[in-house]
Parts: sequence; structure tokens; C-alpha cells
Amino acid sequence: MEGIKLNKDCIPKHVAIIMDGNGRWAKEKGEMRIFGHTNGVESVREALTAAGEIGVEFLTLYAFSTENWSRPKEEIDALMDLLVHSISSEIKELNDKGVKLQTIGNIKNLPKSCQKALLNAIDETKHNNKVTLILALSYSSRSEIVSAFKEMIKDIDSKKINSDEINEDIISSYLSTANYPDPELLIRTSGENRVSNFLMWQLAYTELYFTSTLWPDFKKEHFYKAIEDYQSRERRFGKISEQILGND
Ligand code: IPE
Ligand code: IPE
Ligand code: MG
Repeated sequence: MEGIKLNKDCIPKHVAIIMDGNGRWAKEKGEMRIFGHTNGVESVREALTAAGEIGVEFLTLYAFSTENWSRPKEEIDALMDLLVHSISSEIKELNDKGVKLQTIGNIKNLPKSCQKALLNAIDETKHNNKVTLILALSYSSRSEIVSAFKEMIKDIDSKKINSDEINEDIISSYLSTANYPDPELLIRTSGENRVSNFLMWQLAYTELYFTSTLWPDFKKEHFYKAIEDYQSRERRFGKISEQILGND
């Protein structure tokens, strides 16, 4: 990518993206909001291709939040239709790129047609191992944490685990992201500087990257730029700079 230099030894394993700004992108063009969502699908392809090219192993995309159920019914219906069609028509490309599809969130709340398309795509791509694409659908971090609490309490009651054993790893293992490492980098498009109920436990030490680019305008070079910015950061995890640089 022109002008962007990436250090191959410092590629994040897991990148998460809050894909925001579709509605505003459409509005700027005098179009309906769904036009923005439709054009956002191409940006998903771009991010996924870019991730695969540089060796990012996990890409989590926030596609629909629990709170998004409060949007007008027409928009929700159109988004669900778009999801079914995109998932079904992308299976070949996912397989060509070695992408394994997974989901987090309350999938049971999605329309049956969506659930079916997702289960089918998950099954059709389950043997791929280059990139794991995790779609967050009907997802909210707080409700994920509530579910984890409930499961944990059940397991304590049935003596499967002992409350004295509970530690950070055990809590992580009850979350829907149990099989994935925490993201090293979170990207949010559209100029909003908030987390909007996304991966709140998992983001504890994630680097945050906010860009004013609206999601449908987000292309491979924007993804690489975010990685380049990530690589310029010093991740101290509470230590001091000299310890990280090995001078102390
Ligand atoms: C992100 O774009 C997509 C979803 C939340 C489904 P928005 O639809 O939130 O677009 P803006 O933020 O209104 O521009
Ligand atoms: C966050 O975007 C959710 C997704 C990108 C799916 P929103 O547009 O729903 O977030 P808020 O409401 O502006 O915080
Ligand atoms: Mg938004």
C-alpha cells in the first residue's frame, strides 16, 4: 500500500471494528439509510481481504447491536434481508479466502431466515483456518456479561465449579468470545468516540482507533492505516516505558 509501511512482526492477531456511519453516508448522497448499509457490504469485503493479506487471524465486526432493535421496523427488516443475501452469496468467496465464519450475540433473536443462512455459512466454512470472521449480531456486551453470570451461578450451584476458583480466565471462558484472544485493536468509523456496548470486558487493554471516515468509504488502505497507527503505539500494560524498551 502506497506510503504505508507495516512491520510484519507486529500484526495484531485480533482486530475488532464498529462499522458506523452508513446512515449518514446515505443521507449525504440524498439516499435512504439502507443504501448506506448496502454499500457497507463492500467495506466488509475490503476489511476482510486486508486482514487476510497481512495475517490478522481474527476479525470481529459489530454488525447489529441489541440496541439496534429499537430502530424503525423498515430499517431492521431491510438490514436482516441484506444479511441473509450477503451471507448466502459470499460463501464461495469466504471459502476462497480461507475464512471461517462465526457469530457472537443473541442469534436466536434474529429472524429464522437469518439464523438458517448463518448456520449454513458457519457449517460450510468450518474447515477454513486463515481468518476467523466473527459477526456480532444482536450483540451487547452487558447482556453477554449477564448471560455469563447466570451460567456461572448455575455451574456453582451444580458444583461444576467452586466459587473460590473464579478468576479472570474463568470469567473470560463464560463469555461468547471464550475461543478468541482479546482484540489488540478496535477501530470505530464515523467520528463517534464511544464503545456502544461492544466487548467491554475484552477491550480492557485494547488500543482504540477512531476515524471520521464513514463505513461505506472505509477501504483496504484505511484498514492498513489503522494498523500502522497501532504499530506506532507503545503498549505499556501499566508498566513504564523503560521497562518496555528493556532499559530498566
Ligand atoms: C452502522 O451505521 C450500521 C449499523 C448500526 C447497523 P449506522 O446505521 O449506525 O449509520 P449512522 O451512524 O446512522 O450514520
Ligand atoms: C453501534 O453503532 C452498533 C453497530 C455498529 C452495529 P450505533 O450507530 O448503533 O451506535 P450509537 O447508537 O451511535 O452509539
Ligand atoms: Mg450509527
